[in-house]
Amino acid sequence: MLRGRRVLGVHVTKILVIGATGNVGRHVVSSLAEGGFEVRALVRDPSRASLPEGVEAVQGDLAAPASLGAALRGVDGAYLMWPGIPVEPRVVELIAQHAKRVVYLSADVADLADGEPATIFHQEIERLIRKSGLSWTFVRAIDFATNMLGWADQVRQGVVRWPHGQARRSLIHERDIADVAVHALTSDGHDQAKYVITGPESIPHAELARIIGEEIGREVRWEDLSPEAAREELTAAWGNAAFVEARLRAWESFTHEPERVTDTVERLLGRPARTFRTWAREHADDFR
Ligand SMILES: NC(=O)c1ccc[n+]([C@@H]2O[C@H](COP(=O)([O-])OP(=O)(O)OC[C@H]3O[C@@H](n4cnc5c(N)ncnc54)[C@H](OP(=O)(O)O)[C@@H]3O)[C@@H](O)[C@H]2O)c1
Repeated sequence: MLRGRRVLGVHVTKILVIGATGNVGRHVVSSLAEGGFEVRALVRDPSRASLPEGVEAVQGDLAAPASLGAALRGVDGAYLMWPGIPVEPRVVELIAQHAKRVVYLSADVADLADGEPATIFHQEIERLIRKSGLSWTFVRAIDFATNMLGWADQVRQGVVRWPHGQARRSLIHERDIADVAVHALTSDGHDQAKYVITGPESIPHAELARIIGEEIGREVRWEDLSPEAAREELTAAWGNAAFVEARLRAWESFTHEPERVTDTVERLLGRPARTFRTWAREHADDFR
């Protein structure tokens, strides 16, 4: 049976999930569907999207706002993430013409004034949403534990070479991000809230690698990569020198002062955030 709830006086029943096949969005989709909400998933290629039964897939592309009409028709809420493509202000306007509420997956850096590329990107989307007239919630996530899948090849070879082994990170499980987003979309009291969400503790890079090794049942050694070597390797791999510089600066800072830990997940959901070990256990096959 389909459920609907009044949120801020809006009867939220039909929710559009943008980024529905992504790390977080796929869990937003399944939680909403399990919760009895009518879920529509925006996908670029419906034939390739694997979605839970009962979820309607509608084709559309954020890079082409005119393609979003069918996806937005009749929705009253939206989960929005923005992929690594240029921001299209028109998309936010279109969401506001149809939906009443949006929950945007932002980043914890959005409350900084450091002028870094990721900060500017998330701040720009938050600004568009603020002036859109939508009821909004920003879920400002710290780095995702899924980023560590980038270590998978090295883990398979038994050694992780990465900079700043003692950088203490508070990575968050993608399902916790989704749970907070769903909570904000489907319960009252989250209008104009900016939730900085993190994992439950901060753990050094080298320890994260060791935990992955324990969960897959093999030894994984750590080798500290010099910042100079990392700069070269990561710029070649990621193709964005400014982003690499920003990451190196952040990781270096976490060797002195651990990445922040908030209790927001627990406060909102009434249970602690999932640990990195839980994440590694659930993703063990991705590292084997
Ligand atoms: N990674 C981090 O540490 C981190 C930290 C804080 C915040 N964030 C935020 O989280 C976002 C990533 O979320 P995620 O990991 O859940 O996503 P993801 O796994 O990177 O998935 C990308 C999603 O975007 C969709 N997509 C890509 N281009 C599209 C387009 N042109 N039109 C429509 N849909 C498009 C893809 O859909 P299809 O390919 O199926 O069409 C897919 O569902 C980042 O962009 C960032 O803003 C990330």
